[in-house]
Amino acid sequence: MRIFLDTANIDEIREAAKLGVVSGITTNPSLIAKERTTDMKAVIQEIASIIDGPISAEVLSLEPSAMIEEARVVSSWSPNVIVKIPMPESGLQVISSLSREGIRTNLTLCFSLNQALLGTIAGATYVSPFVGRLDDISHDGMQLVSDIVKVFDHFKVSTQVLAASIRHPLHVVIAAKAGAHIATIPYSVLKQMIRHPLTDIGIARFAEDWQNIPKE
Ligand code: E4P
Repeated sequence: MRIFLDTANIDEIREAAKLGVVSGITTNPSLIAKERTTDMKAVIQEIASIIDGPISAEVLSLEPSAMIEEARVVSSWSPNVIVKIPMPESGLQVISSLSREGIRTNLTLCFSLNQALLGTIAGATYVSPFVGRLDDISHDGMQLVSDIVKVFDHFKVSTQVLAASIRHPLHVVIAAKAGAHIATIPYSVLKQMIRHPLTDIGIARFAEDWQNIPKE
């Protein structure tokens, strides 16, 4: 399973990139707004200068021809851009049309197996089941990830399952066990994944034992 970072914060992306484990970035309008800018192009291009991998950027238009036009512009910002499209009828139509043009898409805000199925048939490069937001309304988000992986494997489709709306390290563990191709995670969760109290205790004990070697 690959790890993407779910953020538009340049400092976090720079820090995480140093670790060598992040192979892509997902953004959304809320994440970009959190950085107090509306210049999505500048943000996406700066991210592309740091991370050599897929970078998801979302279109804001709602009408199909405007979405397609916006998607063409967004995808021209960098060869690594993946255009995030949400699912209403217009979105499905847009994904089909963009896939015929060779523009890669990420079906975002995916909350059901049917939406994922339609996304892959339409030619989406990625589908993003939003795990945390399903959990928030007492649905099992990870069950959806597992179902999509199973069905995509069965039909050997090339669309990748990108587990999104990840809220804590256990989500990452379950996404990996379910066979998700990618988990996109906040920087805080990446840092939580690194730490284990027994590792800290072990390092301290090794150092202490080394110091306590009787001097000859
Ligand atoms: C994924 O592509 C989305 O940006 C993200 O995972 C949404 O997460 P949230 O539900 O925590 O906002």
